[in-house]
Amino acid sequence: MTDEREITLTVNGTEHTIEVEPRRLLVHAIREDLDMTGTHIGCDTGNCGACTVLKDGEPIKSCLMFAAQADGAEILTVEGMEDLPEADDIHPLQEGFREEHGLQCGYCTPGMLMAGKALLDEHPDPDEETIRDAISGNLCRCTGYQNIVRSIEYAADELENRAAADGGAVATDGTADAEPAASPEGGHATPEFGGDADTFCGREDCCGGPDGADPFDRDALLDDAGDGDGTGDADGRDDADAGADATDRGDTK
Ligand code: FES
Ligand code: FES
Repeated sequence: MTDEREITLTVNGTEHTIEVEPRRLLVHAIREDLDMTGTHIGCDTGNCGACTVLKDGEPIKSCLMFAAQADGAEILTVEGMEDLPEADDIHPLQEGFREEHGLQCGYCTPGMLMAGKALLDEHPDPDEETIRDAISGNLCRCTGYQNIVRSIEYAADELENRAAADGGAVATDGTADAEPAASPEGGHATPEFGGDADTFCGREDCCGGPDGADPFDRDALLDDAGDGDGTGDADGRDDADAGADATDRGDTK
């Protein structure tokens, strides 16, 4: 007898209602039930950080939480980054990882981006020690971390430059206020998605824009979707490519 329960997750601004067993992990619900394989699984034991997502604005390891525990939550995954108010064509963090060579195989990258996003929401101008501390729960087997630190510094500078150019801070919650909105749990609320330009960032090519343009090309992002077994592909390459794709979307710039 199955003992499934209905839960609702708002992932990257879209509400999903799914049936899950009580033991279903959030990472498996995201990857398999919602088919968003940008969130990776490296260890399944809370050690590597590849599965990091933002839950109500706070970074969590989605392999350590049951999907049922996230019922009603707002989740941000790597697929939603370029649709955030502070993103232009791609998110400044994704741009930073591209420009500063912050990835090699890309397997850790979605988790690193989420950790970086949480950090910059909290500390827009972090020093190196703060960055290293923020990503200390995310392991990278390739880069030696230095370029990841530079990538996050790049994003912080880019966000600051955009704020200066806009004559004020670029809010990450879709408001004109530089201070991120508080979530009920004391963290930062996940920004809203899919609104019109008047109520969000005002860029015509963002958030759907006044013409309803959709810059969020999810199909391209997921063209390398995993095999759905929740463990990644045998050689890790498909999922690694998905991570690389998530950061290397500058081809339209
Ligand atoms: S897969 Fe969750 S921490 Fe490694
Ligand atoms: S694990 Fe970080 S780039 Fe390969």
